[in-house]
Formats: sequence, structure tokens, C-alpha cells
Amino acid sequence: MNTEYQFQHKHLLGLADYSTADIQHVLDQALHFREILDRPVPKIPTLRDKTIVNLFYENSTRTRISFELAQRRMGADVVNFAASNSSAKKGESLRDTIQNIESMKIDMVVVRHQSPGVPHYLTRCVDAHIINAGDGAHEHPTQALLDMFTMRQYYGRIQGLKVAIIGDIRHSRVVRSNIIGLKKMGAEITVCGPKTMIPLTAKELGVEVSYNLEETLAWADVAMALRIQLERMEHSLFPSLREYHDQFGIKREHLDKYPNFMIMHPGPINRGVEMEGDVADSERAVILDQVTNGVAVRMAVLYLVAGGLRV
Ligand code: CP
Repeated sequence: MNTEYQFQHKHLLGLADYSTADIQHVLDQALHFREILDRPVPKIPTLRDKTIVNLFYENSTRTRISFELAQRRMGADVVNFAASNSSAKKGESLRDTIQNIESMKIDMVVVRHQSPGVPHYLTRCVDAHIINAGDGAHEHPTQALLDMFTMRQYYGRIQGLKVAIIGDIRHSRVVRSNIIGLKKMGAEITVCGPKTMIPLTAKELGVEVSYNLEETLAWADVAMALRIQLERMEHSLFPSLREYHDQFGIKREHLDKYPNFMIMHPGPINRGVEMEGDVADSERAVILDQVTNGVAVRMAVLYLVAGGLRV
């Protein structure tokens, strides 16, 4: 690491804004927080004078709980906002909502929204630090960071890793952040899925494209399966989920045939669609490790974005 390096971001809006050194620094800090999480009392007072709002306009299990645990384990005051039971339902605009919340003296906002660009928009509405927890099909930067942290944990490196991302590439913010981050960190990437789920512009992102699951699994060190995002499809892009599973679902037989690849999934999993349940539960899957690591990665992001307060 360059001794002159300084992390200088007020926000985490997407990995497109972060350099290789920034990503490396977040992953290195996350390692420190991962060790803290293994202590009998996994708590530190780093953010005890901070108030953080988790502003969720879209459903979430992992990301919301993971951020909240990270915040509480660092001593922050935490407020959870769910659009479904808020005055957004009475027609209040996003700008009015966030400016009213900021008037109550908050320091950071973690936002998930169905519209791409909302985290960027919030930086123009308020002075608080903004962290993107997923904006439409644009970016999900903390998911990609925890994915890279998990790959590095198992392989000891990201440089040169062969990462296959399989499934609904077209609608996935996880893919976009992972491609941006993994390329900066020197991984090789192949995206694999039905033609209708892979954008024509995929190659312009500097990745290989494959429509053949067997060839892709034979090549890969990591197989990251993605959920079919029915909620973002205007029309069905595949005849049926059964047919999708037959062609692109990872099956037990693949584990025996190709002994190298590790299985990842950002969740939530549709068992029997992108992979057999048996595969998700197998010794080759690190899906729950990804979730555990997510808390440490989010602690690192909160810590750094808040200004690198003393741990
Ligand atoms: N991986 C992920 O973003 O999961 P949630 O939608 O449950 O937060």
C-alpha cells in the first residue's frame, strides 16, 4: 500500500467513483472489523456520536439488517425508515422527506431505492454522508465489496481470479458493481445466461460473454449465480423458470464434474431456479459467509466515509 494514500470520499454512491486503491483500502479495513466481529463482545464505540438513517424504499433482508448491525456494533444511533409505512404514501416527495429527516440532525443516510441515481440526487438535497444500498439496476456497491472480500478470504487474491456471473445480467445492479470492482482489482470475468438476459453492450464492459453453462463452469474459479429479477422484467425473457433451471441452473452433478469453482449468490436465492437447494447448502457454497462478511464490510465503509474516526 502506498504510504501517501488517503481515503477521501464523503459518500459511497458506486464503485465507479472508487479507485483500485480505495477498494483495496476498504477490503483491508474490513478485515480488521471482521476480527472485531469474532470477539465475545463485538462492539466498538467508533460511531457513538453519529446518527444514521436507513432509508429503504425497496424491500431488503440482508442489506438492511447488515447495515443496522454494523451501525449498532459501532455505537451509532440508528433510525429505520421504510417507505411502505411513511408519509411517502401520502405523496411526500423524496426531497421533502430527506430534508425533513435531516432537520432532525442526522449524519449519514443509507439509501435503497428502485430508481437509479437516487443516492446521487440525495447528495444535492442534504449535507449528510450518503451510502448507496442499491439503486434500481444501477449499482449495489457494498454487495460487490463483500463479494470481493469473500473471494479474497478464500483465494487470498482477486488478481487473476476467473469469475463467472450467471443469470439475469441485464437487470442486475450486483453485476454492474461487481464488474466495475472486479476489473479494477484484476479479475477475469465471464457473464453467462440466456441471450435475452445479457445486454448487447456487455462486451463493452470488458467481460467475456457465454451462453453455455457447462463451458463457463469448467473455466471458473468462482460461480456467482444471480436471482431472476421478475420484478424488473416488462415481459418474460425465458419460456419458464423450469426451462431456465434446465439450461442455466447449477446442479449437484456440476459439483462432481467441475471440482474447482466456489459458489456465491448475493441472495435472495430462488432454490430450484438458479441452483438446486442441495448446491446452495453444499460445502462449495460460501453464501452465508458472504452475509457474515457483509457486516464487516459495511462497518469499514461507515467508518471510512465518516472520516476514519479512531477505532
Ligand atoms: N443481496 C441483497 O441485496 O439482499 P437484500 O435484497 O435482502 O438486501
